[in-house]
Amino acid sequence: MSKVEDLLKQLAIEEKISLLVGAGTSVIVPGAAGETRSIPKLSVPAIVLADGPAGVRIAPLRFSVDKEFYATHFPNAIMLASTWNPEVVEKVGRAIGEEAKEYGVDILLAPGLNIHRTVLGGRNFEYFSEDPLLSGVIAAAYVRGVQSVGVGATLKHFVGNDQEAGRMYVNIIADERTLREVYLRAFEIAIELSKPCAIMAAYNKLNGYYCTQNPWLLTKVLREDWGFEGLVMTDWFAGDNPVEQIKAGVDLIMPGDDNIVKKLVDAYKHGELKEEDIDRRAKNVLSTILKSLKYQGYRWSNKPDLEEHARVAHEAALEGTVLLKNDGVLPIKSGTKAALFGKGSYYTVRGGLGSGYAHARYTVSIAEGLRERDIKVDEDVEKVYRRHMLPLYELGDCIEMFRRLRDTAIRSDNKGFLTWVLFDVSEMLIEYYRTMYLLEDPFEDQFLEEVAKKNDVAIITISRISGEGWDRKPVEGDYYLRDDEYRLLLRVSETFHKYDKKVIVILNIPSPIDIISWRDLVDAILVIWLPGQEGSRALADILLGKISPNGKLPLTWPKDLGQDAATRTFPYEPRQELEYSEGIYVGYRYYDTFGVEPAYEFGYGLSYTNFEFSEVSVVKDVDKMKIKLKVKNVGGYPGKEVIQIYIKPPRGSIDKPYQELKGFKKTKLLKPGEEDDVVIDIPIKYLASYIKNRWIVEKGLYKIRIGVSSRDIKIVKTLEIDRDYCFNTKWIQIECS
Ligand code: BGC
Repeated sequence: MSKVEDLLKQLAIEEKISLLVGAGTSVIVPGAAGETRSIPKLSVPAIVLADGPAGVRIAPLRFSVDKEFYATHFPNAIMLASTWNPEVVEKVGRAIGEEAKEYGVDILLAPGLNIHRTVLGGRNFEYFSEDPLLSGVIAAAYVRGVQSVGVGATLKHFVGNDQEAGRMYVNIIADERTLREVYLRAFEIAIELSKPCAIMAAYNKLNGYYCTQNPWLLTKVLREDWGFEGLVMTDWFAGDNPVEQIKAGVDLIMPGDDNIVKKLVDAYKHGELKEEDIDRRAKNVLSTILKSLKYQGYRWSNKPDLEEHARVAHEAALEGTVLLKNDGVLPIKSGTKAALFGKGSYYTVRGGLGSGYAHARYTVSIAEGLRERDIKVDEDVEKVYRRHMLPLYELGDCIEMFRRLRDTAIRSDNKGFLTWVLFDVSEMLIEYYRTMYLLEDPFEDQFLEEVAKKNDVAIITISRISGEGWDRKPVEGDYYLRDDEYRLLLRVSETFHKYDKKVIVILNIPSPIDIISWRDLVDAILVIWLPGQEGSRALADILLGKISPNGKLPLTWPKDLGQDAATRTFPYEPRQELEYSEGIYVGYRYYDTFGVEPAYEFGYGLSYTNFEFSEVSVVKDVDKMKIKLKVKNVGGYPGKEVIQIYIKPPRGSIDKPYQELKGFKKTKLLKPGEEDDVVIDIPIKYLASYIKNRWIVEKGLYKIRIGVSSRDIKIVKTLEIDRDYCFNTKWIQIECS
């Protein structure tokens, strides 16, 4: 008999049920989102669950403890996906895992892999991409990293929490093909490639049932089709019926309270819950606990290697920074005199708000990052910002005061938790206020003239923030520029161009903003997303050409909102129901199939150097195709390139997108003149569409489009598939009848 079964046998029904319900926010690790219930008589410990995607989210200060518990803030997920580099993301996962481990956290509530269905999704920064393959592969790398140190990872939010409007109740209506090929596919790939410890069922409903109360989703698809063996938990306070949750396939209701335990016990007594269902769920919880660091008696140090992890955060930001435009200005030289405009240059937004917000000890601002690398930042412009933004600085003082108050409260009495929550929320509100509401254009003409004369270049940062609980808005100051921001771009560009000086824009944003109205005004545009605490140092390295930019867009950058079908149905106000009527045509699948031109396409990102491709071959090898090529750096700067394989299907009987990403690989760092051999394997099953309850790959001539973005295709090869292939939902090959 297994250990789990042995333990289970010794538990009374109430004890088994208690395992299915969390014990509320964590006591063991203050500030962690939750913990399970212990069973002292059997030495079953409580295990701790903490957010989140960009770093371990715990309280940085504790009652009566004269020590700090800061975590590294890594780049947000959208930037991790922009690396297109699973190796780097695995390192990030490992570093976050190590911090979790050393802070006493057993299960990390990350990564999030909902789909960027539109650019307005409020949590896009926490999610990877509009494409399920890129999302799934990057998520798997993250999970492997976290789990390599013994901490469990959690895929979330399963499924359809692709917008925040009405997230606790909105009913997502989507057909099975759309779900299987896009929204579920990201999770399916991540599970196949990384065996995550846990999955979190989302708040919203799916086709009429809360995801947490949805047997089709949690039992049929997840357990039966995909063979998932880990733990299924609810999102915090999700759904409306704990009994239905357990019946549908939830193992752990979070954060949980005694009332829920009582409801489940009553349901058992009234015959609504069967003992075998309770046992099945309790076994999953127990086996998760038995694998945990707590159960193994690991003594956490509270001393993670924050310095080493800062280096990992820096490396990831280096790979996730995307160059959108460069009219001969970048890279700049060390010693360049730069005038920095935009409050984001001085208060760089490191991450989004909500449960994805990690408490880092510091954030390097763009001004600091550039100065450290010997770019001469103009002090007169900075002074104007400081004077003009006095309220902002007073707010800064306010934060300091808050910190001191909080420290005293936390260290001296038991109201610490409340103070911590208040602090947490107010710190986030202040971030929001700084980013969204401070005006940008306080400069006199004469002053701008002087600044343009004495500097070599202008750098303007545009920042935005978003967070859990609300979506981005199609208004000035959010998706669109505010008048003062536009005026700043216009006036600085006109003045600098008059003196033959260039203008560089840095976008410090959670997801795309309008770019068409202003991109022609400026000479270069770099996207740093929400780049974590070290992003500005990485930016400085890229500005100086220590490495060419090598990040690529993980989503399509529209010319305007409403260009694609999904955005046209976006719920600007919360609704009861939202139909994904665009079906599988999300992101580039829509743009490419319907001939719509975006501002920048999926997979796009410029470099300072050039790459040449040679010896390209595509061969079919039983159940996969193998693509081989040589990539050579033929330009003047060190760099990496992302080889992207898009497959265009034959015109068969199935309605399919024009092309889909089916494989990708980033080269190693190539010095000028250096070459890399790239090999990409694509399983034939990846070409399948989900039609009439099975997966099918139609026979015919497939075009293998090898490129460096979805629209910059360098070489096209063909591959004949000589018969139809069919698979059931478990991916077992079946007859195509
Ligand atoms: C979020 C989850 C998070 C949980 C615990 C919820 O509000 O949606 O992503 O893991 O809280 O903090």
